Amino acid sequence: MIRSVVRGVGSALPKRVLTNHEMESMVDTTGEWIVQRTGIRQRYIAGEGETTASLGEAAARAALANAGMQPGDIDLIVLATSTPDNTFPASAVNIQNRLGIHRGAAFDIQAVCSGFVFAMATADAYIRGGMARRALVIGAETFSRILDWNDRTTCVLFGDGAGAVVLEAGEGQGTVGDRGILTAHLRSDGAHKDKLYVDGGPSTTGKAGVVHMEGREVFKHAVGMITDVIYDAFKATGTEAGDIDWLVPHQANIRIIEGSARKLGIPMDKVVVTVDRHGNTSAASIPLALAEAVGDGRVKRGDLVLLEAMGGGFTWGSVLLRW
Ligand code: ACO
Repeated sequence: MIRSVVRGVGSALPKRVLTNHEMESMVDTTGEWIVQRTGIRQRYIAGEGETTASLGEAAARAALANAGMQPGDIDLIVLATSTPDNTFPASAVNIQNRLGIHRGAAFDIQAVCSGFVFAMATADAYIRGGMARRALVIGAETFSRILDWNDRTTCVLFGDGAGAVVLEAGEGQGTVGDRGILTAHLRSDGAHKDKLYVDGGPSTTGKAGVVHMEGREVFKHAVGMITDVIYDAFKATGTEAGDIDWLVPHQANIRIIEGSARKLGIPMDKVVVTVDRHGNTSAASIPLALAEAVGDGRVKRGDLVLLEAMGGGFTWGSVLLRW
């Protein structure tokens, strides 16, 4: 059977770092409050000329180099973002053009913080269905541009960045020993749409709007939703927590990450954490964390890697893959 195998991974961060200390002079907060409630110490903020497409392009180029491939090898680009450069065309098409690719298809996926998991599941379905052979799956965001910088309940949480992987069709035996994506589970429930949303859009205000969040409500649902889709992945593959080499969670908040790992029985030394330095980069957080853990040698070929995310909508999902 066909499996979507990860051939390369890369990431890109804006130049500017914004520390908690600097945030203290912008809103009524303290570095101590932010670290205690979220684990975030700093985040990266896109400057002039840095956009979702430029960061996505840089991450894609890094992933291609890591895979030993050229842009022309790619026949599908799936970009997860909630902060596109333009309402249309899709920023995936912008990235495709920046890479000089003129074949195949490119489109955006919008599932907020779960976007990268949704994009991986989508690209996997295209590859297994024979509609693509080599896909760039990118998560790229410039959340700083949809934040209310006077709202201390949201502006301290988010950051900008991008990460990407190259997926390629490979032969598998249909067992959990195969390399590649083994299973993916996606969920959403729009009953929660007003708990985390942006108060604008082309069809309503004609403006991009800013983020609003009922933080406690998000927190209340997060651990349960995340662990539910992880149990789905275990059930579908006959695996269990003890089999996981690396958990690479969406990086929203260290308390959500620790709460999920504890409930699953996965020790924190098997969990990749970047939230302290990146903040919450929404759809970019998982590939940013993956690139770091692959780059420093933690994630190695053959490792069983579990990705999970939960975010606005609500949306949530898991992807289990063998590196
Ligand atoms: N600095 C100082 N005080 C603050 C700040 C701040 N930046 N923000 C809020 N407060 C105050 C509040 O006003 C409140 O004050 P009050 O008691 O006088 O009203 C007090 O701190 C406690 O506020 P809570 O919202 O109850 O604080 P909580 O412990 O829930 O922490 C947080 C807030 C960090 C947002 C938490 O609810 C959380 O992590 N929720 C999950 C949401 C999340 O991670 N979202 C990311 C996007 S979704 C995703 O990616 C999954």
